[in-house]
Amino acid sequence: MKVLIVGSGAREHTLAWKISLSKRISGLFIAPGNAGTQELGENLSDVNQCDPESVTRAAIEHKVTHAVIGPESALAAGVVDALREAGIAAIGPDKRAARLESSKQFSKDFMQRHGIPTAAAVEIDSVEQLKQEVESRNGRWVLKKSGLAAGKGVLESDDRQELIDFGTEILKDDSLILEEFLTGYEISIFALLDGKNYRLLPSCADFKKAGLGDTGPNTGGMGSICPVPTISNGILAKIEKEIVVPTIEGLKKDDIYYTGVLYFGLMMTEEGPKVLEYNVRFGDPEAQVLLPLIQSDLGNLIDSMCSGKLDEFPLRICERSALGVVIASPGYPGEYPLSIPVESLPKRPEREALLFHAATSSDGDGRILTGGGRCFTVVGFGSNLLSARVKAYSAAPEVRFEGAWFRPDIGKKFFIDGE
Ligand code: AMP
Ligand code: GLY
Repeated sequence: MKVLIVGSGAREHTLAWKISLSKRISGLFIAPGNAGTQELGENLSDVNQCDPESVTRAAIEHKVTHAVIGPESALAAGVVDALREAGIAAIGPDKRAARLESSKQFSKDFMQRHGIPTAAAVEIDSVEQLKQEVESRNGRWVLKKSGLAAGKGVLESDDRQELIDFGTEILKDDSLILEEFLTGYEISIFALLDGKNYRLLPSCADFKKAGLGDTGPNTGGMGSICPVPTISNGILAKIEKEIVVPTIEGLKKDDIYYTGVLYFGLMMTEEGPKVLEYNVRFGDPEAQVLLPLIQSDLGNLIDSMCSGKLDEFPLRICERSALGVVIASPGYPGEYPLSIPVESLPKRPEREALLFHAATSSDGDGRILTGGGRCFTVVGFGSNLLSARVKAYSAAPEVRFEGAWFRPDIGKKFFIDGE
């Protein structure tokens, strides 16, 4: 297999690392990749990951047999459609199926049509309707931009003027949904789909807020854990029955052919699990904790997904726990500088901790430079979450660059008595 990974984040570095361990591969390319993936395969840094033609041209040139698409923007742009047309097997949904993430109105309609538990919502297309809907309600509500927004298109508020201002801005070039505010805790569930069969992976949780104790502004995700200690096999079975199976049957009923990763962003409420959103790919930073816990050869797994044989695949999951801490640039999730030189990076035995880069590059003198808001994920491993946390937090301070910061409380809310 010659594998191409599309993307440049820590999720794609994790995919590249896991695939680099496969006995099946004879070539590994990452487009565009980062300074971390460069150590594992060949970075195709000239490729524009959101341009289907650019990705496909590079894949043909390098005789790629299988492609794995990381980011939603590439999937929504139709990268999978173009690769398949060129005869290259691709892990990820086509553009039509990617609407489950790229249009919140589409996914809300889908959930309502197929009776999948989710927050009650109305679709909003004009400022007049926005004012009417917001002013007729009390309490806390959530407004969501319908299209892709990299985690920044959602406002939870009980201030009606704030909701109207936020919505008015978005309505300039997109539509909205206004939805009921759900309380509970959030988890991320991932299923692999091959067009006919599906397999569930262990539960994850992502820590989306920038501040201590889940406060402050939303980010792309400041840390993650896998598995989630509160999610028993019984709860997972309930999620499968009430959410995963109806979603997969809904896809079949609507004649949506789906291959790749389907991500269920769930709120665990007192009434049971409810879908906050679907994503059509691995989460970031969930992939960084989830993929290292898959024991099976990822090359074999990809092959079985591409040939519709997931049901026969002997999927093996490691019994350990993983906890990931994201190291961010100063100012993130607001404005932040780029190209900060990295002074030091941790090195640990792979059994204890791993380091994944996001959008880093190396300058001519062998120095690593940052290239985004979230720059690295440090992942610690242990026999449970507490020992994984010790490993992650012993390595995280060794990622040094000017203004580097991380949340010190990833996973904490799941520990007994908050400790
Ligand atoms: P989404 O992109 O739809 O997942 O929304 C981003 C984040 O906003 C979620 O991860 C939640 O933290 C929060 N959120 C979204 N919808 C709701 C809701 N209905 N109730 C409470 N929080 C929500
Ligand atoms: N972890 C959230 C996301 O990948 O969208």
